[in-house]
Amino acid sequence: MKADQIVGIQWGDEGKGKIVDLLAQKYDAVARYQGGHNAGHTIVVDGTTYALHLIPSGVLNPDAVNIIGNGVVVSPEALIKEMKQFDGLLGRLFVSESAHMILNFHILIDQAREKLRGKKAIGTTGRGIGPAYSEKIARGGFRLGELRDIDALTANVQEYFVQNKPILDALEIERPDEADIRAELTDYAEKLLPYLANTTQMAWKLLEDDKRLLLEGAQGTLLDIDHGTYPYVTSSSTISAGACTGLGVSPKDIGKITGIVKAYCTRVGNGPFPTEDFGEEGDRLRKQGNEFGTTTGRPRRCGWFDAVACRFASRINGCDDLSVMKLDVLDGFDEVKVCVAYEVDGQQIDHMPLDMEHAKPIYKSFPGWDKTEGVRKFEDLPETAKSYLLAIEEMTQTKIGMISTSPDRNDTILL
Ligand code: IMP
Repeated sequence: MKADQIVGIQWGDEGKGKIVDLLAQKYDAVARYQGGHNAGHTIVVDGTTYALHLIPSGVLNPDAVNIIGNGVVVSPEALIKEMKQFDGLLGRLFVSESAHMILNFHILIDQAREKLRGKKAIGTTGRGIGPAYSEKIARGGFRLGELRDIDALTANVQEYFVQNKPILDALEIERPDEADIRAELTDYAEKLLPYLANTTQMAWKLLEDDKRLLLEGAQGTLLDIDHGTYPYVTSSSTISAGACTGLGVSPKDIGKITGIVKAYCTRVGNGPFPTEDFGEEGDRLRKQGNEFGTTTGRPRRCGWFDAVACRFASRINGCDDLSVMKLDVLDGFDEVKVCVAYEVDGQQIDHMPLDMEHAKPIYKSFPGWDKTEGVRKFEDLPETAKSYLLAIEEMTQTKIGMISTSPDRNDTILL
């Protein structure tokens, strides 16, 4: 059996939560492989609201196994808090013993660095994601499996503070007491050790046993550390290939890859966003789309569909199809715009340049429509909405497999 995968195609917040929630019902296992509790979505089931940041969406399917792979940076504190929402997770949630931990000082470093960046701040979620990944790459990180030996881990954390004293002093981050570190780590060990596993072996076994495994991407392609709008990106590989390093499946283990895309575009945090609309229409998208961050509550920047960026994202992920989310948010606009090329230094280009900051969008306009909200069949969509979707297929060179017309699970068109 091959694993299926869903990935974000824009700057995150594409509406992956609804799709994963829909799909999770059909899978035996759901795995996260990158990012951390910077991600987030809320799912309402039978009137109860669940906030998910780290635990895969399969947790809402009582029969599914949930895996947090080695490529995720795990804040034990955030994970323990999130786990409290659910009963009976033992045997249903497995966390990689080699996933790196986000400890309190990573969060302090993240926030201190953002302050120092001033006007050039990335606008991170302040969750310690960047520092935890930096230390992993610099070979100075701490893995969850190390919680098995609290003496050694406490000594290593102390040693980290000694080695990094000049930097931490400059950032005004104080070394915690040894007793406090030990107490904190002991608490994490008590609560998390029963969930630790070799998740790579688990993923292989699931596939060997013909179980259906869903790989759940977080954030979006344009926030990828290598291929996104660097330096205004997150610190992980958000593209489909991230599952290979972040879970240990091989490229050959991955079957269908679905790209999740909004019918327009949003971004949280700073950095280039060529199709951002600073006027009334941008405000209207924010209002109609309720575009406020689930993790930080920040208002999202809003703008038009960028077909150049999406074609790139679809290609780099190897998308088999696209799920177009929030089509109904465009209801009532007289015209909707799509960016079909950029102008950079007076030249027209049809690919993403290294420096997106100076890329000006060249738009094609499409006539708007009255209402798509709640439509469940393609043939019931207004003709102008159909034309818009068909143009997106053509411009991104990827077929559309699913269209969402409201947050409701049932308001979904399958093609
Ligand atoms: P970090 O991941 O907290 O380091 O933040 C880096 C950038 O990625 C910032 O612009 C964040 O707003 C953005 N970001 C991180 N996680 C998400 C997400 O789940 N959705 C949308 N943007 C995100």
